[in-house]
Amino acid sequence: MTENMYSPAFVKELFNRMSSSYERVNYITSFGFSIRWRAQFLDPIQKSNQRIETIDLLTGMGETWKAVSRKFPNANLSALDFSEEMIKQAKTKSEKYFKNKVTLIQQDVLQNQLPSNHFDIVICAFGLKTFDKEQLETLATETKRILKIGGQFSFIEVSRPENNILKALYSFYLGQIVPVLGKLLLGNPTEYRMLWRYTDKFVNAKTATEIFKSVGLKTKFHSYFYGCATGFSGYK
Ligand SMILES: C[S@@+](CC[C@H](N)C(=O)[O-])C[C@H]1O[C@@H](n2cnc3c(N)ncnc32)[C@H](O)[C@@H]1O
Repeated sequence: MTENMYSPAFVKELFNRMSSSYERVNYITSFGFSIRWRAQFLDPIQKSNQRIETIDLLTGMGETWKAVSRKFPNANLSALDFSEEMIKQAKTKSEKYFKNKVTLIQQDVLQNQLPSNHFDIVICAFGLKTFDKEQLETLATETKRILKIGGQFSFIEVSRPENNILKALYSFYLGQIVPVLGKLLLGNPTEYRMLWRYTDKFVNAKTATEIFKSVGLKTKFHSYFYGCATGFSGYK
């Protein structure tokens, strides 16, 4: 892999290729933790029964929607992703389980046309790792731009735990076992090995937390299950 692994075109193709198996592999590779984390990372956001505007950035095929609709049952939910194949699967999910009510937006979040000062809530699960520092700065600026004043956000990402034993187990599992599972489910382990490379380089959400603070968002760092996932939440 010599191509720039952070180039949007490269990332988009990677997810296009993984779209058929992503949900299953994601579930298996996190021992089901991803489902728990998708609910937990919404905890810092105040519950609401109002018709609030919510957007799920880097939505994939809508893995977070269930948790979102439980916590915000009357929210208008928009979901953004740039992968055609992920959006196709998301559309099927919206039709099947969400009465076709999710507004799907196929755009690059780093060059989006979303309205300013519009959203009450911005959330994003497991999408940070494929951004480099400069792209994280753009993501922070864009999150601030699209949020209403007082609007809240929460982000989460799989991370490298600090405890050495856990780190070794996690590295072995994500770096060696997951690609094999990826091969069994997909026929090609390269894509899932790539996900590990991103996670390994991402380390944890501490840098991203500082970047979100630096653009003027009130931001707090969070750690989940001994640092196997980390994230941050806050408000504008
Ligand atoms: C690891 S998946 C996460 C999916 C989902 N949020 C979840 O909870 O599992 C990351 C998603 O981000 C999308 N993505 C990556 N970079 C993007 C960008 N610059 N703009 C829009 N979508 C992007 C990919 O297409 C992929 O579907």
